[in-house]
Amino acid sequence: MKKCLIAPSILSADCARLGEDISKALDAGGDLVHFDVMDNHYVPNLTMGPMVVKALRNYGITAPIDVHLMVEPVDHIIPYFAEAGANYITFHPEASKHIDRTLQLIKTSGCYSGLALNPATPLNILDYVMHKLDIIVVMSVNPGFSSQLFIPNALHKIHQVRQLINQSGYDICLAVDGGITINNFSEIAAAGTDMFVVGSAIFNQIDYKKAIDGMRYIISNSIPESYCKNHTLIISS
Ligand code: DX5
Ligand code: ZN
Repeated sequence: MKKCLIAPSILSADCARLGEDISKALDAGGDLVHFDVMDNHYVPNLTMGPMVVKALRNYGITAPIDVHLMVEPVDHIIPYFAEAGANYITFHPEASKHIDRTLQLIKTSGCYSGLALNPATPLNILDYVMHKLDIIVVMSVNPGFSSQLFIPNALHKIHQVRQLINQSGYDICLAVDGGITINNFSEIAAAGTDMFVVGSAIFNQIDYKKAIDGMRYIISNSIPESYCKNHTLIISS
């Protein structure tokens, strides 16, 4: 059975009761936690660091944590996130001077590695690193804030990345991050998305389960069989 992943993005969660709110989103059907890290340098916003990942683990969150680094530089902070309990670590290629080295560092830290591609980032950045990628994130907004509008050109890019992944033969998860709502979910799904990163369309709703169930319903009705692989998720111990 093929399965698409829904990753609630904590940027829209209630920071005053983060553990509780994330648990609620996971209990409502979220598959993993998307943890947005912003440094007020690479992006014009500031969020949280490894100690919050650790706090979530201590609180009892056992779901995979996908750390989306929007920081520059990236290398120094990677082992701290791995140590704190991250499973996936993704960064933006523009924020690293040595992309291959950073990917390797993520892997030797014991995490799955990924690249997040901004709306204007060309796909040739992937050319020589596909074999080191577990996840590719197509950014469908410019990074930095939740509740932005989905950039329509991203749909074409999702199609292109889907083709690149299929041609490569590697088991790489195709994630889409930014501006996903119940209204555009179907076309994003049909473009070949494996993982849907969703912030405001879950956390800004009164009923998280209703929101996620609505997305799952669309997935089950609109996904071509060849899309949405059942990617193995590592659970932190
Ligand atoms: C934006 C972040 C996203 C954001 C998505 O820079 O990477 O993960 O939280 O939020 P929504 O789904 O509200 O666009
Ligand atoms: Zn994100």
